[in-house]
Amino acid sequence: AGLRVGLVPTMGYFHEGHLALMRRARELADRVVVSLFVNPTQFGPGEDLDRYPRDLERDRALAEETGVDLLFAPSVEEIYPPGASTFVEVEGGLTAGLCGASRPGHFRGVATVVAKLFNIVQPDLAVFGEKDFQQLQVIRRMVRDLHIPVEIVGHPIVREPDGLAMSSRNSYLSAQERASALALFRALELAKKMVGMGVTRASEVRRAMEEAILAHPSTRIDYIFIGDPETLAETEAIGPGSLVALAVWVGRTRLIDNMRMEI
Ligand code: PAF
Repeated sequence: AGLRVGLVPTMGYFHEGHLALMRRARELADRVVVSLFVNPTQFGPGEDLDRYPRDLERDRALAEETGVDLLFAPSVEEIYPPGASTFVEVEGGLTAGLCGASRPGHFRGVATVVAKLFNIVQPDLAVFGEKDFQQLQVIRRMVRDLHIPVEIVGHPIVREPDGLAMSSRNSYLSAQERASALALFRALELAKKMVGMGVTRASEVRRAMEEAILAHPSTRIDYIFIGDPETLAETEAIGPGSLVALAVWVGRTRLIDNMRMEI
């Protein structure tokens, strides 16, 4: 019928961040499909696949309230039938560092499932959150390299009133960990402030961020990346639009966040 179809791929347990992606798709497309699939191939051994939060009935109601036309919640067997042995891998610098370094195989799982979802749903556009900034860049590259005719739309991070980036994994946090989780946003704000005051050496900003994060109880830094948002190559000189991204363990929960620097 010539209508534009927008897809919002998710792993469910919706929060305001997911709903914002759905509303954006609603603005851009005539029909909105949301996929809900906790994709096993993007979880490594010992990661949180089994305890990943799930609530299909609540998600169904929220999607409906948000004007979603179709909620696609396939089973693992539908997406990975027995004998499935084809995977999509985006190689090189985009997947080598940041989350790719600490979660080997993660982006292979993401690229594979997103390619499958695109083939099944055949959307004109797909909306992804910028909290998973590296994921967004990996998907953009996959779509470009494989000539997949889907427009990729990034949506700004949606934050709690105190600044914590919304994430389904925030539900794992105890009250004390929830307070410590603010370390990520505060460290990014500190970076932005330092850069605003004229500090342009990444090593100096990284050191200050590390100190600020570790002042919060139960935190352990996985990585702090400072560099080019397009290539995801680290740089020592911070310039306009440089990306600062980080992953921090708060107790047993690994959280990510990022911010672009303004000069
Ligand atoms: O961002 C997510 O929720 C997932 O990585 C995605 C894109 C739905 C693929 O499983």
